[in-house]
Amino acid sequence: MNSLDTTRIRSYFDFPAAGRVVTNNAASTQPPRELIGLLQRCAPWYENVHRGQSTASRRTTAMYEASFDTIAAWLNAPGRGCIATYRNTTEAINAVMYSLLTDFRDGDNVVTTMLEHNSNYVPWHALCREILPRLGRRVELRLARFDATGRLDLDHLASLVDKRTKLVCCTGASNFFGTKPDLSKIRAIADAGGYPQPTGERRALLLVDAAQLAPTSALDVQALDVDYLAFSFHKMLAPFGVGVLYAKRHLLDHALPFLYGGDMIADGGVTTETVAWNDLPWKYTAGTPNILGVIASAQALRLLLDMVMPTAFFGGSGPLPRVAIEEVMARVGRHTANLTARCMAGLSEIKNLRVYGPEHRTPLVSFTIDGISPFAIAEALDRRGIEARAGCHCATLAHRALGLDPPATCRLSFALYNTPDDVDLATDAVRETVAGRRRAGRPRPGRAQVSTAAGRPT
Ligand SMILES: Cc1ncc(COP(=O)(O)O)c(C=O)c1O
Repeated sequence: MNSLDTTRIRSYFDFPAAGRVVTNNAASTQPPRELIGLLQRCAPWYENVHRGQSTASRRTTAMYEASFDTIAAWLNAPGRGCIATYRNTTEAINAVMYSLLTDFRDGDNVVTTMLEHNSNYVPWHALCREILPRLGRRVELRLARFDATGRLDLDHLASLVDKRTKLVCCTGASNFFGTKPDLSKIRAIADAGGYPQPTGERRALLLVDAAQLAPTSALDVQALDVDYLAFSFHKMLAPFGVGVLYAKRHLLDHALPFLYGGDMIADGGVTTETVAWNDLPWKYTAGTPNILGVIASAQALRLLLDMVMPTAFFGGSGPLPRVAIEEVMARVGRHTANLTARCMAGLSEIKNLRVYGPEHRTPLVSFTIDGISPFAIAEALDRRGIEARAGCHCATLAHRALGLDPPATCRLSFALYNTPDDVDLATDAVRETVAGRRRAGRPRPGRAQVSTAAGRPT
C-alpha cells in the first residue's frame, strides 16, 4: 500500500517540471517552493536578531527564536535550551569536539565505528592524533568494526568501551550500507563503561550522527537518552546552510562554547577580567547567525507535516503534536522503505551487480558492477536522466575495509517525493548501462581482438 500521496507531495516542488529523476537524496533533498518563497516573504521585515529595537528586528527575532522551539519539539527535546544551530552536521560534531577538548584526561579514549561518515571520524582522529598530542595528552581512538552485511559489531564495540571511555560516537544510520545500529544497545554499552564525567555522571557520553536517520524517522532524544545528536536540514527539504546540534542541557551549561564573540555574551557581561556567557541556547550562537536559514529550516519541518497530512503547521510557530510527527515520519519511513525494496529487487536481476548492506535499510542502495567503474555507471545514468552518486560517500573507512579499489560505489537514494516509477527508471537505466557496456565490449565482426601477454583482451 502506498502510504504517501506522491502526486500531492510532488506538486510542492519545481524539480519534476524540469524532468529530473532525483535519486541522490542521501546527499541533499530538494526544497519545496514554499520554503524558497518564505525567504522572499521575510524580505519586507529583513533585520538582524537580538540587535535592534525596531519592530522589524523584534519580529525577526521572534520568528528566529520560535524556530528553536519547533526544532526542539521535533526532537522531543525538553526545550530550546538544548538546541544549537551550526552550518551542518559536520560543524555540529566539530562543536562537540572543541567543547569537550579541555575535558579529556591523559589515558582517556574515544570509541567510534568503521561505519562512520568522515564527519564523525575525522574530528575524533584530529582530536586524538593531532590536537591533544600537541597539548601533551594521550587519548586513544578506538574503532568498532562491522560484519559482512554492514551491521555494527556490537560485541566488538562493547569490548572497546572501558572505564576510560569518555565518549562513544556512532552513526544513527550508515550512509553507505543503510544499516541502523541499535542505539539503545549502544547507550547501554556506553553506560557500562562507567567513566566519571566532570558533571558527576558515571558513564561514557553518547554522540549520534543522525544525518541519515533524521530524514526518515521520528527522533525522540529523551527516549534515546543520547547526550548529543546532530543532523543537517539540507537532507530534510530545507535550503542549504543549517545543521542542528541537540545536547543535554547540563552539558551545554557545563561546556565551553565552540565559537566566541558577539551575542553569546550575557548583556553587558564583558570586563577586562571576565566574560559571562549568555543564556542557552544563545551561548552557542556567536556572531550573526544564519537567521533566514534557521527560520526556513524549522518551517521545513512544519511543511513536511502539511505535505503528508492535511494539517496547517507551515508559517506558524505553535506547538507540534508528537503524534503528528510520529505518524508522518512513520509514513515517510514506510514509503521510502517500499521504494528501497523495489530498487533492491530490480537491481538483483542484473548480473554481476553487488549490493552492499542488508535487506532492511534506510532508503539508499550502494552497489558495484564487475568490470565497470562506479563513476562510469553514475555518468551513464546521468546520460539516461537518472541522478546517482559515485564515490566513497565520505564513508572512506568502510569502503577501504571492504577492499574496494577504487574505494567507491554507486548509490541511489530516495526521499518522500520519489515514486515507484522513479525507481523503475533508475533500475532500467542501470540494466541498459550494463547491456550497453556488454554490447560495446563484444568483438566487432571482421576486427581481430588484440590480446595482452596475460591473454586478456585490451
Ligand atoms: C551519515 C552522515 N553524517 C554526516 C554527514 C555530513 O553532513 P554535512 O555535509 O551536512 O555536514 C553526512 C552527509 O552526507 C552523512 O550522510
